[in-house]
Formats: sequence, C-alpha cells, structure tokens
Amino acid sequence: MYANILTDISKDFNLTPDNLKEIASCARYEIEQSLSNNPTSLKMLKSYIGLPSGLETGEYLALDFGGTNLRVVLLELLGNGEYKIIKKVAKPLKFPGLYDFISADSTAAELFDFIAATIDEAIAGNHDKKYYLGHTFSFPSSQTNIYNAKLITWTKEFATTGVEGQIVNDLLKEALQRQGFSNVEPIAVINDTVAVLLAAAYKSADTYIGSIYATGHNTCYFESNFNDDTKPMIINLEIGGFSKLAINKYDAMLDENSELPGQQRLEKMVSGRYIGELFAYCLQQGLKLKTLPQFTSIDLSNIINDNSAELTAIQELLKNTLNLTLAIEDLNAVQNLAAAIVSRSARIVAATYCGILWHIFPNAIPKHNIVIDGSVFEKMPTVNRNMHESLQQILTDESDKISLTLENGGSILGAALAAAMSK
Ligand code: GLC
Repeated sequence: MYANILTDISKDFNLTPDNLKEIASCARYEIEQSLSNNPTSLKMLKSYIGLPSGLETGEYLALDFGGTNLRVVLLELLGNGEYKIIKKVAKPLKFPGLYDFISADSTAAELFDFIAATIDEAIAGNHDKKYYLGHTFSFPSSQTNIYNAKLITWTKEFATTGVEGQIVNDLLKEALQRQGFSNVEPIAVINDTVAVLLAAAYKSADTYIGSIYATGHNTCYFESNFNDDTKPMIINLEIGGFSKLAINKYDAMLDENSELPGQQRLEKMVSGRYIGELFAYCLQQGLKLKTLPQFTSIDLSNIINDNSAELTAIQELLKNTLNLTLAIEDLNAVQNLAAAIVSRSARIVAATYCGILWHIFPNAIPKHNIVIDGSVFEKMPTVNRNMHESLQQILTDESDKISLTLENGGSILGAALAAAMSK
C-alpha cells in the first residue's frame, strides 16, 4: 500500500558517480578559494596548532565538550603515541526531567558551572596541585592563538544562552573561580576534528586529515602551504556548513524547522543528529502521517540491521512509535528508505574527503590514512562500505591508496596533546 511512494522517496536520496565527483571538486574549489580569502560556504578556521612530534609527555587534564556527553579525563602522555588514563568522568549534558544545559533555557554560567564541577570530580577535589587543561570544544570558533577560541555560532541544535561571541576558556576560568579553585589552568582549545588528527598523528607521522562522523560531522586537515606567511597549521574546515549540494524536499523541511535554517546544509544531510529526523520527514510523507514521528540514528541502525524474514524489528518499532502494522513489502520499502538515507550520508562524506585529498596532493595521491572518530562511522551499518564505494567511484584506481581508520577517543587524547604542545 505504501511501498511505491516510499520507493519514490528513496530515489530522492540517490547520488550518481558524477554527482559525487562534483561534490568532491566543489569541496576542493571552496578550500582553495577560502585560502585566497574569497568568500565560500566553508569557515576554514585556523587552529594555531601543528602536528605533534610524538614525544609529548606529562600529566594533563582533557575536557571534551560538544556531543551528548561531557567528559573530563586526567591522563598521562607517555610519548611515542602512548598514554595512560588516570581518572575519567563522563556526564550527559541533558538528563530528561532533571536538567538540560544545552537548551536555550540554560545560561552560560549554569553550563560552565556544571563543567567546572565535573572537572573538580576528575581531580578528586585536589585544589593544590597544578593542572594544565586542554579543551576540545566541538563548535566553530574563531581564534588568533591556541587559547582564545571564541564561539562563532552554536551548531548541532545547542542553544545555551550567553556563549556565542564569548571566549569559551574565559567562561570556563570564571566558573572554576566560582567553584573555588584556580589550580586548573585551561591553556588550549581545539576543535574535535583537530583533536582526532592530533591523536592519530601522535602515533603515526604523515597523517593529515582528521574527521568526526557522529552527532555532528566535520573535517580538518594540515595545511602546509598558505598563500601568505601563515605558518603551517591545522585548519578546521567546518565542512558541515558546505552548501554546494542539491537538497531534496525532506532536507528542506528539516532545515526550515531547525535552529539555524539555511546553515549547516551538509551536516543536516549526513550527521547522526539529523538523519533520524530526515527519515521521520520521509515517513510522514510516505505513510501519510498527521504528525511528525520521532526517530533517531539508532533507529535507522536497527532498521537496517533487521535481517529477519518478516522484518520483525521494523514492524515492532513502527507499531510502538506509530501504532501501525505494515505489509511485508511496505516494511521492505521502509528498510530501503533508511538504507538510502544512510548511504547518501556516507557517500557525501567520502566525496568531501576526496576534495581535501586533491587539494593536499594535487599531483598524485600517495598512500594515505584518513582518521575518523564517531558513532556513525563506527557503528552505523553500511557506512564503511558506502564510503569505500564512493571513494572508488570518485578516485577510481587511486582509491586503493586510501584507508579510513577509526580513531576512538581522539577528543580526549587530542586535548591533552594540545595542552602539552602549548605549555
Ligand atoms: C559540528 C560543529 C563542528 C564539530 C562537528 C563534530 O559540525 O560545528 O565544530 O567539529 O559538529 O562534532
């Protein structure tokens, strides 16, 4: 009854090899235009940090802020890519019914007090010993040195008031003081993509591209050749803002109802925060539902993973969320739709990697490892295969030289490295 319409909707998520090549070329073009100071949809933010030597050592506090959980870790860098975790504290940033520090109802002071209290837990209330803190702050921030990152705009639907336009480490310092301790000194702020790249480069040289494919999506790379006399450093592309993409009706609906209509176009087509919602808009249309249902990227994962003959997991999910029982051909079409959304996501992400590779290696692409952290890359079924297929369609024979590797926990190790490198 619904299969045909769902199948038609799935087709709107199709990307041909030519579409992918065009995305890759446009991504390269925008990177190069930005480097020549021409306006593009990429923010191309300077990080004021290069690559680690691999020899960094010492004890540091690492703060990871920007996903669903806040994490503070005390760790010791041992050099040669090795490190040891001493203490780890993780807290959700929102807890239904109890608190929500990332909604517009919360203030900067409330949020940063919560962060400071979590830091206090990680150092077990020790207010005597000196700690240097590296801060992975996973939002677009403009900086003129490694310390003074100023939040340009929230993304990923974060909305806490009073943080945009502020130097986040100043907010953190004030909160630490309010909590009554000043022995923790925030000394470096980096984006999570930068953190992942630092973490991977700590272990192996010749690593130049780091990416996050999770709640949000973004990529950074090491730029060694600025047009002016800027010294080589990592650039945070904020690729989630890339806008040279054809959007369909469902992308448009999601965008209109988001915190930042018209912005973060690419991120809204690919990242974990949005793909479940995109699926919801499609189902609303395909199943003629009166209201917008709620689905997460985890639902998409479960739908795609349902290998049962009767697609019982999908049937049950639709029964529970929509009170609907569908015929097997409709369930099949629902599964294909979920797969189409995820496949488009993975293929777009891989296409942007090709644009970056073409920029870094304009003559011939050498053997190269792109490092990626994030649950969508790690856990979403079909993502890895689709990314490789996309690389193959764009780079053809050269795609064999590219590997995509999971860099788990890079945000923490990277923050500690940033602190070590800037101390
Ligand atoms: C969003 C943020 C970006 C971050 C990414 C992954 O795109 O704008 O700074 O790197 O999410 O967390």
